[in-house]
Amino acid sequence: MSFDDVIELAKRRGFFWPSYMIYGGSSGFYDYGPLGTLLKDNIIAAWKREYAREGAIFLDTPVISPADVFRASGHLEKFSDIAVKCSKCGTPYKFESLIKSLGINEIAKTVDEAAAILEKYDVKCPKCGEKLKNPYDFNLMFRVGSNDLYLRPETAQGIFINFKNLYNYARNSMPIIVCQVGKGFRNEISPRQALIRMREFSQAEVEVFYIENDDFPIPDSSVELNMLRNTGDLLKMKVSDALRSGIIGNRVMAYFLNKTYEILLKLGFQPDHIRAREHDPGERAHYSSETWDFEYLLDGDWTEIVGVSDRGTYDLGRHQQFSGENFQIDGRTPKVVEPSYGLDRILLTIMDSSYYRRENGYKVLRLDPHISPIHMAIFPLQKRDDLDKIAKDLFEKMKNIDPFIFYDDSGNIGRRYARQDEIGTPFCVTVDYQTKDDETVTIRERDSTSQVRVKISDLLERTRSFPDS
Ligand code: GAP
Repeated sequence: MSFDDVIELAKRRGFFWPSYMIYGGSSGFYDYGPLGTLLKDNIIAAWKREYAREGAIFLDTPVISPADVFRASGHLEKFSDIAVKCSKCGTPYKFESLIKSLGINEIAKTVDEAAAILEKYDVKCPKCGEKLKNPYDFNLMFRVGSNDLYLRPETAQGIFINFKNLYNYARNSMPIIVCQVGKGFRNEISPRQALIRMREFSQAEVEVFYIENDDFPIPDSSVELNMLRNTGDLLKMKVSDALRSGIIGNRVMAYFLNKTYEILLKLGFQPDHIRAREHDPGERAHYSSETWDFEYLLDGDWTEIVGVSDRGTYDLGRHQQFSGENFQIDGRTPKVVEPSYGLDRILLTIMDSSYYRRENGYKVLRLDPHISPIHMAIFPLQKRDDLDKIAKDLFEKMKNIDPFIFYDDSGNIGRRYARQDEIGTPFCVTVDYQTKDDETVTIRERDSTSQVRVKISDLLERTRSFPDS
C-alpha cells in the first residue's frame, strides 16, 4: 500500500489527522484519534518494558525551560537549520531537504557553503521558478511569551540537569540508564509527511550515563543489521561483529544500537525494511562524536526514526561549566550514549510497514498483537436467536479482564472481520449456534484468517495473559 493509503486509513479509521482543520489547519500539528492514541500508548508501554528490563529509571520533566538550560546545552547558539526563502513568492525551504529533493548530493555546514551550492546548481524555487539566494541560519526553538523561556527541542536536557538527583536515587552506583517520554517542539521550516516532520512531536529518550566502556557487555545479537557507513559501504552484519571490527567505535554505543534494533524488531519491523546509517562528521548534531540513525524506507525515502548518539561528556560538562554544579564522580565526568526514539515516526512507519492488501482485495493492518489498539473483537454470528445476547454477556465478562476489546453486531460477518482487519485487531471471536450447545466460540486469527473453536472458559483464561510480550 502507498504512503497516501496509510494517511487515508489513518484519517478514516481514527488513527491521526491534521489538527485545527475547522480553522483551516496549522502546518506541522497532528491530532491522534481514538485508535492512534491507543496505538501510541502501546508502543510506549512496549518500549518502557524493554528499558525496565535493562534496569532503567524513568523521569518526567517540564516542557518549558529557562534559556540558561539551552545556553549551556548549545541549543541557543547551534540548534538551527539552514533555510532559504524565495524572494518572489515567499515560500521558505529547509536547505537540506530542498537540495535532496532536487537530487543534489552535497552537504552544507555553513550558510556560505549553502550559498555556494545554490549558485553552483542555479537552484530555483520549485513553486515559482525564482532563483534562490541568501540562505540563513534559522534557530528551531520556540520562545515562549516575553519571558526568557523556551519549549524544549528534545527531552534530554531535563535528564542531564537532574544528574545529581538521579545519581543519588541510584545510590551512587553507575552506570545509570534514564528514560523520559514526552513532547519536543521545533519550529520546523517546512513540516512534511504528516507525523514525520512536525512542530510538536513525541520522543522516547534514553540517556545512558557510564564511566567505563566495559560497564556494558558486548551485545549478543542474533539478527544481522543492514548498516550504511559514512564511507558509502553497505554492510549486513551482527552489531557485535561491527563492534569487533571497529565499525562501531564504542561498546556502549554497540550495546544500545543492538538494543534499539531488538526493540524495533519486537515492535514488528522487518529486518530488511530498516537500516542503521552512520552520520557524516559534518551532519552530526553539535553534541555528538558518533551517530547512527535507524531509518525506514518510507515513500521511496530512507527516513530517520531513531537516532543513537555518542554525546560523550559534552552535556554534563557544559552544565557543570554553566551552573557551577559538580557532576564528577571520582574526578571524572560521566559519559553518555543516547538512543532517541521518535514515537510519531515509529507509529507512522509501523503502520506503513504493516498495511497490505490481501489477494481478495481486503486491506489488513498486520500490527504485532502486543501493540494493536484493539486486542479482540466479539461478534454474534447473527443478531437473533439470542446469539447477540450471549455475545454481549461474553463481552461484558471479557471487559473486566481486558477492556481494550470491541463488540460489533452490525452488517454481515465478513464485513465485520474486514473492519477489524483494517485496524489491526489480531483476533475476532464469534458466537454462533454451536455456542448454545457446547459453550464454545470460534477465534479467527487476522493474518492466517484461520479459525479455531475453543471453550469460553479457555478463552477467558487466554485473555488474562494478553498482550504480554
Ligand atoms: N536528543 C536527541 C535528539 O533529539 P534527534 O535526532 O534530533 O535527536 C530524535 O531526534 C528523534 O526524534 C528522531 O529520530 C525523530 O524520530 C524524532 N524527531 C525529531 N524531529 C522531529 C520532528 N520535527 N517531527 C517528528 N519527529 C521528530
